[in-house]
Amino acid sequence: MTVTDHTPILAAPASRGGCPFAPPPAYEQAREEAPVTRVTLWDGSQCWLITRHEDVRAVLGDARFSAEATRPGYPFLSPGRKTVAAGESSFIRMDDPDHARLRRMLTADFMVKKIEAMRPEIQRLTDDLLDRMTASRSAADLVTEFALPLPSLVICRLLGVPYEDHDYFQERSRVLLHNGSTEAEVLAARDELVGYLTELAKAKEHAPDDGIMSRLMARGELGMPQAAAMGLLLLIAGHETTANMTALSVLALLRERDQWTRLQEDPSLVKGAVEELLRYLTIVHNGVTRAATEDVTIGGRTIRAGEGVICTLNTANRDADVFPSGADLDVARDARRHVAFGFGVHQCLGQPLARVELQTALETIIRRLPDLRLDVPFEDIRFREDMVVYGVYALPVAW
Ligand code: HEM
Repeated sequence: MTVTDHTPILAAPASRGGCPFAPPPAYEQAREEAPVTRVTLWDGSQCWLITRHEDVRAVLGDARFSAEATRPGYPFLSPGRKTVAAGESSFIRMDDPDHARLRRMLTADFMVKKIEAMRPEIQRLTDDLLDRMTASRSAADLVTEFALPLPSLVICRLLGVPYEDHDYFQERSRVLLHNGSTEAEVLAARDELVGYLTELAKAKEHAPDDGIMSRLMARGELGMPQAAAMGLLLLIAGHETTANMTALSVLALLRERDQWTRLQEDPSLVKGAVEELLRYLTIVHNGVTRAATEDVTIGGRTIRAGEGVICTLNTANRDADVFPSGADLDVARDARRHVAFGFGVHQCLGQPLARVELQTALETIIRRLPDLRLDVPFEDIRFREDMVVYGVYALPVAW
């Protein structure tokens, strides 16, 4: 079937076809045949799917598209996601100037120079986790033993959150990021996490440390609810994303062994390889959503005020106009124009940290475990199709 303009055949989010690393085939078909097209959502409402690199950047760079979930026409990808977005009180769901005012309070913490200074500490944590994982075994689940603890430890330190509480916040984050969570489950998980961070923020008022939560409280500009909302955004974004990116990257490199070997032979390729893996895997796989506040023309189509858009970052990252042979993983490719971290004013705040964590994790794993292999058939790996952040549920490996 041909996708033509205004053909409401694509339910969003669509499911994947054969290759678990590729975008849903229906979205790729849309990019080729009707790059700005109407899609139907779970509740029968319609919105626009924006699939090309150029158009995605045009939308995300245009202030006439709002990130506020309360705007008319704002698209929600599931009932649970509607509850999450409608109750989101941090700056990711705000427009400027409020968004810029709040984001600015954190920019110094995530500046490249500040994060680069953390590299030795991130290397030490990486080595400690790998020492423990390999101490008396020759097989393990890379997700629970390495990919999840590393970014969780780092974000806990940055925020001043006790890592001992990781089961508590990881379990509830999982509920918030699951597309199938019910409204009641989402509300309960969020209330518990906000309660947890509010108590923590209160404690920091009396006994401050050098973490971000303490500093936000000390500034005195933020009320308790906003400080907790910001802490929650950083805590969730800070561990779920990098954890999944790490495990999925290792899996992709094991699958494309020649790429693993290239990195083994020339570790100077790792920095570029991280950009290529971000592009190739695009773990924010349901895309990012906005609502038009004025009529805007994108890719020759007029999107009316009050209509929603979904920018599919994964199809943009395989757009042949920017990335020839985009379906191939090529660690030597210059992939810097990818939009895996989004684009425009909401572009990922944590990207310098994600980069250093990923570069350190991949370089160290390849160097220390050169013969790493999958410990189950590839077909048995369970992919996180039903989560906001794509990845694998477990990655059994042996060495
Ligand atoms: C925003 C992806 C890691 C914190 C975003 C957005 C994307 C993204 C696509 C834009 C959302 C939108 O436009 O609506 C990723 C990926 C990561 C990653 C792929 C890892 C591989 C991190 C980390 C942190 C973080 C480690 C924090 C420590 C944030 C924050 C925002 C954001 C605070 C909101 C920015 C704003 O609204 O101004 N991220 N992220 N992210 N990310 Fe990340």
